[in-house]
Amino acid sequence: MGENEKTERLKNLREQAKLGGGEQRIEKQHEKGKLTARERLDLLLDPGSFEEIDAFVTHRSSAFGLGKQQFLGDGVVTGFGKVEGRPVYVFSQDFTVFGGSLSETHAEKICKIMDLAMKNGVPIIGLNDSGGARIQEGVSSLGGYAEVFWRNSMASGVVPQISAVMGPCAGGAVYSPALTDFVYMVKNTSYMFVTGPNVVKTVTHEEVTSEDLGGATAHGTKSGVAHFAAENDAVCLQQIRNLITYLPQNCEEKAPSVKSVKPDSAKASKLDSIVPENPNKPYDIKDVIEGVMDKDSFYEVHELYADNIVVGFARLDGRSVGIVANQPLSLAGVLDIDASIKGARFVRFCDAFNIPLVVFEDVPGFLPGTDQEWGGIIKHGAKLLYAFCEATVPKMTVITRKAYGGAYDVMNSKHIRADYNVAWPSAEIAVMGTKGAVEIIFRREIAKADNPEARQKELEDQYSEEFAHPYKAAARGFIDDVILPSETREKLIRAFEICQSKVDSVPRKKHDNLPL
Ligand code: HXC
Repeated sequence: MGENEKTERLKNLREQAKLGGGEQRIEKQHEKGKLTARERLDLLLDPGSFEEIDAFVTHRSSAFGLGKQQFLGDGVVTGFGKVEGRPVYVFSQDFTVFGGSLSETHAEKICKIMDLAMKNGVPIIGLNDSGGARIQEGVSSLGGYAEVFWRNSMASGVVPQISAVMGPCAGGAVYSPALTDFVYMVKNTSYMFVTGPNVVKTVTHEEVTSEDLGGATAHGTKSGVAHFAAENDAVCLQQIRNLITYLPQNCEEKAPSVKSVKPDSAKASKLDSIVPENPNKPYDIKDVIEGVMDKDSFYEVHELYADNIVVGFARLDGRSVGIVANQPLSLAGVLDIDASIKGARFVRFCDAFNIPLVVFEDVPGFLPGTDQEWGGIIKHGAKLLYAFCEATVPKMTVITRKAYGGAYDVMNSKHIRADYNVAWPSAEIAVMGTKGAVEIIFRREIAKADNPEARQKELEDQYSEEFAHPYKAAARGFIDDVILPSETREKLIRAFEICQSKVDSVPRKKHDNLPL
């Protein structure tokens, strides 16, 4: 073979690999409103930065006529590239080849880039679009999945792992995304479930569509399995690019800093009047976040799930921070099972990757009721408590209004080793709200009074005077300062500056035993 022929051969093979399962199947993919594996990588990565590896890998099976069906790459495109100039390892499943199903070799390709990502301390982004285990390969395929799951577990807390589910994802295949840090889904074209609608119908007699059972909206709002639900493939990939900008490459690094941008002046100037006089009136905690953080930097995580707590990334003076905030607009910002789990997971991610935490607190307590108690609010609430206790990153708390009861302790209090805790003058730091407290401790006295209503009002005023403010806590040093809302940004920036070289650790152990 001459030199030219050799070059031609390589060119032809490259072209063949690019076509995946062929033009017809690519057309089918487009008809479903989905991009192909390669088109997705083009949008995810900086232009021209993608380096493919293993494009010539083929499967080794011959069962059920598979020997005659060979596609270069075997249903997954793998390699590395850059997002905003920062290296990432990627895999993108190609639905046009055996429905993106996972064969032994397909799994080996994914494992190879996961091993490289671990060795080089680089994030892994997986774009999933797959009919699950390659049925013809049987247990070899299941073994392949388990190899991926094991690596997901080993990589957890070492490098950020991000999954996008951009097509079907059924059976055990859902567990790789579930083991990663963030799951994106695309509305109407992706779904995740352990068993599909047909099995559900046979076992429970429920009739449900794939979208209702395991679509982006179901997992974004009901189960919380998906952290983000995007309108389409392009939006999903753009969002992943955005997420990467807040994260460090691995657990040994700090997140990158960008230019500091002051908050929108209209939003910042609203801060001093944001908390209503009436303690039962709600306000939007996101207005507080946006009034304090760098302009347009807040990127909310789990926006559709448990919206009584708000979590997400933002930048303060150009540095990444993780925000955890009670949301008075939803259930008065109460902590329930879902909110506790959502908050705990986010706190643990931030701590694992050296992202400092800012808590905005306005919490009336834990949600009462049989639903919550039987659902295990005690153990789930304990997760959030545990997560804040074990976090060793710089931790700040701003109490904007209510900090009642156990929730006061849980929400990153001084006692569990937060670094800088402040309260606004509107803060009420107490065992419980005025009305409830008076009804419990003065029940008999009120009942005996000539005018019970007037006596109750009098006692409530006395209690408020005594407890519904931040100065009792300030007198004990349980908060470091009482500050004006408009001073918050500057004070937090200074507090973070002094914590830049914070060194803290937890006692030596094999691993912790977070209450699951
Ligand atoms: C081999 C598969 C396949 C699979 C799809 N294909 N799934 N090949 N193994 N698991 C092939 C089809 O034969 C077809 O080939 C092509 O991919 C496209 O599939 P269609 O069915 O035409 O596409 P569509 O109508 O969009 O339906 C997609 C689908 C459906 C919903 C994913 O294909 C499906 O239900 N597949 C089986 C899903 C499944 O049960 N997987 C096993 C789950 S158990 P041609 O040549 O026609 O293009 C599992 C265990 C994991 O994953 C355990 C881990 C612990």
